[in-house]
Amino acid sequence: MLWQIFLAILVCYVLWKIFKTDENELNRLPGPPKWPIIGSALSFLGLSQSEMFDKLLEFRQKYGNQVVVKILNRYILHVYDVKDIETVLTHSRNIKKNKPYTFIEPWLGNGLLLSSGAKWNGRRKILTPTFHFDILKSFMEVFEEQSKNLVKELEKRVSEGLDVVDVSPLISDFTLYTICETAMGVRLDSDKSEAKLKYKDAVLEIGQLVMERLTTIWLHNDFIFSLHPMGKKFAKCLEKVHSFADSVIMERSMSYENRGEDLSEKENSRRCALLDLLLEARTRNEIDLEGIREEVNTFMFEGHDTTATALTFGLMLLADHADVQESIFDECKVILGDSDRSPSASELNDMKYLDAVIKEILRLYPSVPFIGREIVEDFMLGDIKVSKGNEVIVHIYYMQQREDLYPEPKAFKPERFLSGEKRHPFSFVPFSAGPRNCIGQRFAKMEMKSVISEIIRNFKLEPIKKGARPIIKADLVLRTTEPIYVKFIKR
Ligand code: HEM
Repeated sequence: MLWQIFLAILVCYVLWKIFKTDENELNRLPGPPKWPIIGSALSFLGLSQSEMFDKLLEFRQKYGNQVVVKILNRYILHVYDVKDIETVLTHSRNIKKNKPYTFIEPWLGNGLLLSSGAKWNGRRKILTPTFHFDILKSFMEVFEEQSKNLVKELEKRVSEGLDVVDVSPLISDFTLYTICETAMGVRLDSDKSEAKLKYKDAVLEIGQLVMERLTTIWLHNDFIFSLHPMGKKFAKCLEKVHSFADSVIMERSMSYENRGEDLSEKENSRRCALLDLLLEARTRNEIDLEGIREEVNTFMFEGHDTTATALTFGLMLLADHADVQESIFDECKVILGDSDRSPSASELNDMKYLDAVIKEILRLYPSVPFIGREIVEDFMLGDIKVSKGNEVIVHIYYMQQREDLYPEPKAFKPERFLSGEKRHPFSFVPFSAGPRNCIGQRFAKMEMKSVISEIIRNFKLEPIKKGARPIIKADLVLRTTEPIYVKFIKR
């Protein structure tokens, strides 16, 4: 009898928790229909990755600049307006990542991207010196060499009549090579090529699995997910990405320990590779081996996939705009004359037109289209109180294509970043902004300038179909449903 009373009380309590009128102020805001218990989960059920991407944009059209989506007991506020985005990104304490990021925690651990609080602070301090301009300058040699290798590979294909290239795999090889050599101090030579391929394939599969999991609410639970075939596939991918990262750590640790005092000039200049800084920090007990592993996984992913995405979309846009290619070519000629040498770091810095091109690429195709936060401290968004425990999604992709911020928002016009026109300071945030901004943004811009200038000095690019734009899908970074092909013609 007693346990029946207990059970009845328990059921009443659970029902009360589920159906009680919620006092969350976010209920005042519009959003897709909410059902008892599941909230708005039905709006996402079974959506493909590209439908998911469109759905989030559709919400803005249907409900306005602030949209609330409730999934089970989670309140997720989507913001699309520049002022709201500024308020969220500049908050000094609301820097914790939201729920979906936990799906990639088994891969990236509590590295810089996912950690928060004191751990994030400490790590950011250890890692910031890697991205000092003097260190970046020493990476120039790698950017140059890898850019030249990429051009050679393209020349080879053109000479074999394979001038129409699926750019993404080629470009992501390039960015993976550069991040491994600059930040990890490890050259990806031929004996690692199979591991490299497995790594890249596994990263792609992880993205798909994470997105599928996101739209299937019963798989949000870690235990259920681990038993599901999707969870099993995920575990296999983890083995591949981790074993690749571990081999990189092992290789650099051995050369770090064996280096002793007799550093050659060249090695010395690369001494501050990110992995060396971490290995040094380990000797001071500031980080342990697991921590190093987390950061290597984080930087290997963030450092290669984001930049590869931007470059892939960039080449697509350039192929469609011969005039922009010619302006880049002319700028290189003014700065470098007829010489075929690569630009120095300061010459890259002087390429102001190319700078505007890269901004315009990242405006139209920000590699990270939206970012999420879990609120740890109540704050006001206009007259709405956003309370602790709620989540906020910042829509970078949508905001950067708003007509009120950018006239003719869909057009690729690098000049808009040269005209000196005044714009809201948060209207361009492909690297996020505020305390949790991208630590690698100068690295990324330098790498992109280096490789785009090298490609344009050697080739004319043409589209397969003028004006065609790919279908975009929601993934860890911006991806397309079909490959992006570009035709390369030797100058
Ligand atoms: C075009 C290239 C890139 C873009 C568009 C980009 C964009 C971003 C964005 C939007 C964030 C914030 C993510 C969030 O709050 O969830 C971020 C964070 C981060 N990025 Fe990048 N990124 C790029 C390249 C790089 C590179 C080359 C590296 C490393 C070498 C890097 C390392 C990181 C790391 C470690 C974080 C986490 C920083 C923190 O929370 O303290 N990124 N990036």
